[in-house]
Amino acid sequence: MTSQIVEIDFIDWAQAHSRPEWTAAVEAGKVLYFPRLGFAVQPEEQALLREDTLAPKSRNVSLGADGVLKGAAGSAQDQQALAAMVGRFRQQALQLVDDLLPEYKGQLRVAPTSFRPKQVETRAQSVRADDQRMHVDAFPSRPSYGERLLRVFTNLNPHGVPRVWRVGEDFETIARRFLPQAKPYRLWQAKLLNAVHATKSLRSEYDHLMLQLHDLMKFDEQYQKNGTQVTVPFPPGSVWVCFSDQATHAVMSGQFMMEQTLYLPPGKEVDPQASPLAILTRLVGRPLVGVGAGTAR
Ligand code: SIN
Ligand code: FE
Repeated sequence: MTSQIVEIDFIDWAQAHSRPEWTAAVEAGKVLYFPRLGFAVQPEEQALLREDTLAPKSRNVSLGADGVLKGAAGSAQDQQALAAMVGRFRQQALQLVDDLLPEYKGQLRVAPTSFRPKQVETRAQSVRADDQRMHVDAFPSRPSYGERLLRVFTNLNPHGVPRVWRVGEDFETIARRFLPQAKPYRLWQAKLLNAVHATKSLRSEYDHLMLQLHDLMKFDEQYQKNGTQVTVPFPPGSVWVCFSDQATHAVMSGQFMMEQTLYLPPGKEVDPQASPLAILTRLVGRPLVGVGAGTAR
């Protein structure tokens, strides 16, 4: 396996720049890794790095574009400080992406920013929800129609604990391995899911196949154990960026991470032919989204 990790030696969020080979790497599903680009937690913010900043039953704290903080517990003062810290990361992540991937300028839609104070290795989860298993990101209720998930992560653990990921083979290799086992798309099922509001819009064949890959990967014990993969410990004070709908990944351990998702519309990549949508369309041999897709079934 050629290296799925590309190291970039930026030391300053405000002094990032772009290179065609970095854009090509992230569009090939690789992880761009910035070992020296830490997020600076201020001394008065250290006290926010506790698991109980999370409201009971929440998976993570999130800060909307409107500045509203969700999923947080603690005093009003704590919540204000948390919103400020997460907001600062948001600004830095957006600036980084603007400078690193200027080709996407004006195209990206910004999702809420998330702070994840839970310890990964003590989370009890169903197989399908278990991100300690290798997967590509795909969401059952939110059809994407090929819209991309570009994510910026930073580890802010105060005790030197890395966030340990596994990163696997490129998307096409995985798609070739698992597509033969995928259940066929049924338009009537997609319509039913939509009618009962299990999905926010009609699930396309593309979204169906992405979910099938996600599930088939997670349920395959052989693949989880023996699939080609590398373990990457992202230390505190580092940043990494990937298209998480394309980079095969799992998170094994760690605590205290922030993440910014940016949505890129389908076809707005520099090389749209490298995208999961293009790869799956080629492998299946018919359109998977849009007019005409799925109508024969
Ligand atoms: C994931 O997308 O699988 C989660 C990544 C992480 O929590 O580090
Ligand atoms: Fe994931």
